[in-house]
Amino acid sequence: MEQLQIDQMLEEKGYIDEAIDPSVKLVEEITRLKKEKNAVILSHFYVDGPLQDIADFVGDSLGLAQAAAETDADLIVFVGVHFMAETAKIINPNKKVILPDLKASCSLAESAPADKFAEFKTQYPDHKVITYVNATAALKTMSDIVCTSANAAKIVESFPKNEKLIFAPDKNLGNYINSITGRNMVLWDGACMVHEQYSVEKIVDLMEQYPDAEFIAHPECEKPVLLLAKHIGSTTALLNYVQKSKAQKFIVATESGILHQMTKACPDKTFIPAPSNDSTCACNDCSYMKLNSLQKLYVCLKHEQPEVTLPKDVIEKGQVPIKRMLEISK
Ligand code: 13P
Ligand code: SF4
Repeated sequence: MEQLQIDQMLEEKGYIDEAIDPSVKLVEEITRLKKEKNAVILSHFYVDGPLQDIADFVGDSLGLAQAAAETDADLIVFVGVHFMAETAKIINPNKKVILPDLKASCSLAESAPADKFAEFKTQYPDHKVITYVNATAALKTMSDIVCTSANAAKIVESFPKNEKLIFAPDKNLGNYINSITGRNMVLWDGACMVHEQYSVEKIVDLMEQYPDAEFIAHPECEKPVLLLAKHIGSTTALLNYVQKSKAQKFIVATESGILHQMTKACPDKTFIPAPSNDSTCACNDCSYMKLNSLQKLYVCLKHEQPEVTLPKDVIEKGQVPIKRMLEISK
């Protein structure tokens, strides 16, 4: 395939739409290419099961950023969403970072356009900015420090009690962290389209139907949902919790991909996805994460495209708040 044709496809579709010979054994070929190119595959818990199983490392946003910081591979294949691949690129400016589908965005990252945020920030000139990692690289360049759902409380507590803070872009996570730390951070009005879908009424019904089940939730959920939860945490924290808990059944309010690891870790336990307001949609699936597929991963690794690139100044400025976070999270 000519580079011009590839460029056109990437522009229009976000991935290389190449016909694959049906006799190609995708898992075998991906494994072979990975070795040949000294590549590392980093997958998030929300992508489909086979994409988690083929990864060298599968984890939450913090774990993936840490894995990206530690890898000695020449090529980083990020099976997740765009902001995660950008974070890996910022940490590794001299490595090539590829993502199976460039259109794998994030509603939270999209909710905070850099120009609007810059305007917002001018209203609070004496505030420090904490940016949730689910944000564009441009937003990170305007931040004092980055955090993930796994370390948000610790990062906020790293500032003196009287420090004035802005938290962006997730208002639900920001509200939750305000409630557990007693801070009063100014919040950007952003939210995740998956975690805002849960229905309190339907969750309560399910809890009555399964009184022995524990309800657990990701902090991107809205407050009324979080108030019902026995445990709140990042995807890794939820996965650890179900392994430690004595309960046999769990109602899980986060993206459905995590159930793959929960079922693998605890084959005898039952995991029930928390119901959403709209029973006609696949609302527990992140449509961006689900843009990844074994076929796209194979083609991406074969051509080493699409590549995630960033201007030099964005990398330089973005490194500061990300490295601060990694340092505090050691
Ligand atoms: P975690 O960092 O908990 O994996 O969350 C990432 C994410 O996108 C949640 O929607
Ligand atoms: Fe973004 Fe929500 Fe998808 Fe996570 S689940 S990547 S926050 S849209």
